Amino acid sequence: MRFSEFLVRTLPKAGGVLFLSAAAAVAAYPQDKPVYLDGTKPIEERVEDALGRMTLEEKIKVIHAQSKFSSRGVPRLGIPEVWTTDGPHGIRSEVYWDEWNQAGWTNDSCVAFPALTCLAATWNTELAHLYGKSIGEEATFRGKDMLLGPGVNIYRSPLNGRNFEYMGEDPYLAGRMVVPYVQGVQENGVAACVKHYALNNHEINRHRTNVIVDDRTLYEIYLPAFKAAVQEGGAWAIMGSYNLYRDQHCCHNSYLLNDILKGEWGYDGVVVSDWGGTHDTDQAIRNGLDMEFGTGTDGLRSGARNAYDSYHMAFPYLEKIRKGEVGTEELDDKVRRVLRLMFRTSMNGDRGFGSFCSEEHYAAARAIGDEGIVLLKNEGNILPVDFGSVEKILVVGENAVKMMTVGGGSSSLKVEREISPLDGIRERAGSDVEVVYARGYIGDVTGEYNGVTSGQDLADTRSADELIAEAVAQAKDADYVIFIGGLNKSKHQDCEDSDRKGLGLPYDQDRVIEALAAVNDRLVVVNISGNAVAMPWIEEVPAVLQAWFIGSEAGHSIADVLSGDVNPSGKLPFTFPARLEDCPAHLLGEYCGEPVKDTVDIEYKEGIFVGYRWTDRQKKTKPLFAFGHGLSYTEFEYGKPTTDSSTMTSDGHVTVSVDITNAGQRAGKEIVQLYIADRKSSLPRPVKELKGFEKILLQPGETKTVTFTIDVDDLSFFDPEKHEWVAEPGRFDAIVAAAADDVRGSVSFELK
Ligand code: BGC
Repeated sequence: MRFSEFLVRTLPKAGGVLFLSAAAAVAAYPQDKPVYLDGTKPIEERVEDALGRMTLEEKIKVIHAQSKFSSRGVPRLGIPEVWTTDGPHGIRSEVYWDEWNQAGWTNDSCVAFPALTCLAATWNTELAHLYGKSIGEEATFRGKDMLLGPGVNIYRSPLNGRNFEYMGEDPYLAGRMVVPYVQGVQENGVAACVKHYALNNHEINRHRTNVIVDDRTLYEIYLPAFKAAVQEGGAWAIMGSYNLYRDQHCCHNSYLLNDILKGEWGYDGVVVSDWGGTHDTDQAIRNGLDMEFGTGTDGLRSGARNAYDSYHMAFPYLEKIRKGEVGTEELDDKVRRVLRLMFRTSMNGDRGFGSFCSEEHYAAARAIGDEGIVLLKNEGNILPVDFGSVEKILVVGENAVKMMTVGGGSSSLKVEREISPLDGIRERAGSDVEVVYARGYIGDVTGEYNGVTSGQDLADTRSADELIAEAVAQAKDADYVIFIGGLNKSKHQDCEDSDRKGLGLPYDQDRVIEALAAVNDRLVVVNISGNAVAMPWIEEVPAVLQAWFIGSEAGHSIADVLSGDVNPSGKLPFTFPARLEDCPAHLLGEYCGEPVKDTVDIEYKEGIFVGYRWTDRQKKTKPLFAFGHGLSYTEFEYGKPTTDSSTMTSDGHVTVSVDITNAGQRAGKEIVQLYIADRKSSLPRPVKELKGFEKILLQPGETKTVTFTIDVDDLSFFDPEKHEWVAEPGRFDAIVAAAADDVRGSVSFELK
């Protein structure tokens, strides 16, 4: 008999009231901690204990949203709610309970970290960890349990409006970078929610695109980064994508979720729907979805406060169970996963309190920006700018002043501060240098997303000719002209739920650049974008920097690299094609650029030949800039690669070593890339595939040896017949390169 029960039974009738309340108090605060509240007990025991205490209704309540970004806990048992947040570059500001508009908090302005393309361009796994750790601390401070990010969808087309949120075209690079990011976030007791699983490779028709892709391509190109996030990163959450695959929406896709993710990969975390990505109650129940968010209910009640009860995994599910149409086996599995999430996050006793807008976080953002910027071209070594010896610098272009943290969709941020490129350059130049600004062109003067406004007034009524004339006049006697343009976060630029209309720069920027090139030969173009852009003027412009959306510290990082305070060391995480037709998705007609009403099949006909895997096979077409390309203010010399063995067995490995020397005058970092080529195979294989990289710092004159270890996984391809990874015996080349188009040496070995 429990103590409380004993008290009630033995209470004298008269003095009962007083004694009863005491008894109730004792019952509410049990002497022995229940297992589910006992942090010393293994999580699985706590999960089972909590599950056993929950009613059917309580179980239903924890598997769907209760507001825009939260889901319910079990108040009766003291199990807290789950609070999610976008993601992936900073902690999104608070919106109303059931509206997208701003709740008007004054303590939710965050640090904007560089967009994930920039992180990927660092090729620095330590920075990826620092990124995750820092953003995880911001999330913790803001009381969030799940960060909706990072994104690792593969860069298939340069028109995809969301490429800036992802980590480029190569599954290996994305995989190496996502693992430490996830670990860094989760060290805080905050779940990383890796998105968007899977095959969400463009935005137009995103709810209606049914991807047709062969298994080999799926496993070799589109899944590895997710698999790494789950198996090596230990991600606690994953978000289903909006599109369909095999005619099922990916948020409840039996093959992707049940068979691969939870089956083959043994995933024990939650599958979260993308907001509004759930379409079918039965599929939601059976096909692996665990938490439903953002569903726009039945049209009658959309947006209403009680709409959440109408979610597929709310009342409709409950009704099915009550009527006996479905059992509770799936429900218990979902609830177990949600409880596991809670014990890992909201009920994690070791969780700290995080930190927000700390100088450490700004420093992290700047370090990532500094290393992510890519020097694409530097003819005549016109960069870096020696600020000590110049008198006048002309900065041209809207992106020199436009705030880029607002816009772009769900990753839009409300920031505490954002240093514009112009301000960063002015700060670095100091008062002795005249820094003149000319607008050059008018792009998009709006700056608003879901009620967050940039507060900038960029309105300008001058004509294009007037703006160009002003810039050209100023350019004539400038020591340097720095054009800062590219894309922005507006619709049809780098923006969620819309794709770009073409590869070219918008707002006639090419004309401005050409006019500037005609009058000043010290022209630097800084392209701000998350995507490749066409550069028809490339021959006329001596220096080009790829500068991404860098966030709060954008201006500082850009000035760091322009001035040479930081020697650029980023390399491209995706190919810059010279023309859109050089990109196979477009060449083969498997991209639908127009909105459609019904489901549209998009077949990934290029198969595994995405990005450099395609470019490598084309004899005639050269990319504008290759995957892995990026220059430095110093020179690196590569020695001849050597191997420790000319043969390898399937359970062994070989090592490949190469000496790298800094042959220039400045310290710098080099990203040494290892690609593997299979000389002969039963299935067509790419010319070469990235299987290793290392970023090293070298002082002038210094030499370091980089050693890569290659094992059988690095030699394998996915055999769709056998449904397994296969390495066929034979000769392989280990290719050491500075970029996909800049091979520095190779050594071969044989797999026995
Ligand atoms: C996006 C997700 C995002 C979610 C919540 C969706 O529209 O696709 O990436 O996390 O909204 O804002």
